[in-house]
Amino acid sequence: MNKYQKLFSNFIKKNHGKIHFACHSHHYWPDCTREAQLEYWEDSSKMVDDKWEYIFSNKIPRAQELLSEVLNFTRSSDITFAPNTHELVNRILSSFDGKIKLLTTDSEFYSFSRQLNRLIEAGVIEATIIATLPFENFEERFIQESKSGYDIVFTSHVFFNSGLAINNLEGFVEEIAENNSNIIIDGYHAFMALPINLSSIGDKIFYLAGSYKYLGAGEGCCFMTIPKDCKLRPKNTGWFAELSALDNVNENQVGFPNDGLRFAGSTLDFTSLYRMVSVLEMYEREEINSEFIHNHVKICQEVFLKIIEEMSHPHLNRENLILQDLHHHGHFLTFNLESPEIVNSIKKKLEENGILTDSRKNRLRFGFSIYHDSNDYQLEKFNV
Ligand SMILES: Cc1ncc(COP(=O)(O)O)c(C=O)c1O
Repeated sequence: MNKYQKLFSNFIKKNHGKIHFACHSHHYWPDCTREAQLEYWEDSSKMVDDKWEYIFSNKIPRAQELLSEVLNFTRSSDITFAPNTHELVNRILSSFDGKIKLLTTDSEFYSFSRQLNRLIEAGVIEATIIATLPFENFEERFIQESKSGYDIVFTSHVFFNSGLAINNLEGFVEEIAENNSNIIIDGYHAFMALPINLSSIGDKIFYLAGSYKYLGAGEGCCFMTIPKDCKLRPKNTGWFAELSALDNVNENQVGFPNDGLRFAGSTLDFTSLYRMVSVLEMYEREEINSEFIHNHVKICQEVFLKIIEEMSHPHLNRENLILQDLHHHGHFLTFNLESPEIVNSIKKKLEENGILTDSRKNRLRFGFSIYHDSNDYQLEKFNV
């Protein structure tokens, strides 16, 4: 095990003989998360009722501070938490009255796209959906459409079904913000994968992500940065929103805080937040940041691409690969194959060789991580 793999020794040892290429789906958890899990139990037993005061005055601000560093976000108290992104997005959607005019893409994760389809069906949303492919001019087409002005603009930073990434997020947002004030960026596949800099655009967007993927802190801790001076009043609102100073408190109106708690829900299990803090602190101690992780992954991807070229495989080849520019790409590579049957058959054969991948319909995805050592990649194992 190399120095970085040692940080994940528990998961690696328990999956001996396998190379985990599904890290974009279910990332291994670093060893520090075990301690964090136990710490939550200890704190619960020691503090009992006082635990909540401790979490809100200590753990949440710590998580907000660490996330702000990773995201280059300047208003740490404007970060809100929920067990999943679905809850956060629904809270934003619930802030609008009447039919919502929404601009999005055809490549949003099921959590959003299913909800969107149901709300379109129910007549709550009228959506304009832009295809991400051909990606060469996606940003141009999306920006052009945004000029007509929408109640909500929703797009991923890195698309889950291809790994393709918005090239210059800052410039992209600046242009959309000229005509739109509620921009939601789903950063689930970008957070702790690509270097993210919200310093110039954080005031104009909601940026959503979660701990489950590239952070490796497991499920249950999603978060959202909110725009500066956000005045939306979600109809879907939980009592945690009352845990901060409320604005406009009068008998006729529900008050809302002027920080991230504006979009808060209700009681939840904060074990996952403990794990998130432990991983972010571990990376800080080890002096590992998103840039470092991204560079490591790019090297792994380059080695993999060389193997693919050497293999001349009928399916796993460059022609079937959705890739524009490795420098602006997520941490997984996607093969667009003829059918889900071919995908499943290749996936099964790879698994027999200890290569664990994942798929979405006719797309086979290979994910790369800081816990990969590209010296372990052997052509024979991929050549199925
Ligand atoms: C782009 C994207 N957004 C969001 C999610 C998670 O959604 P939720 O937290 O609602 O389960 C995923 C999960 O894979 C995803 O790929």
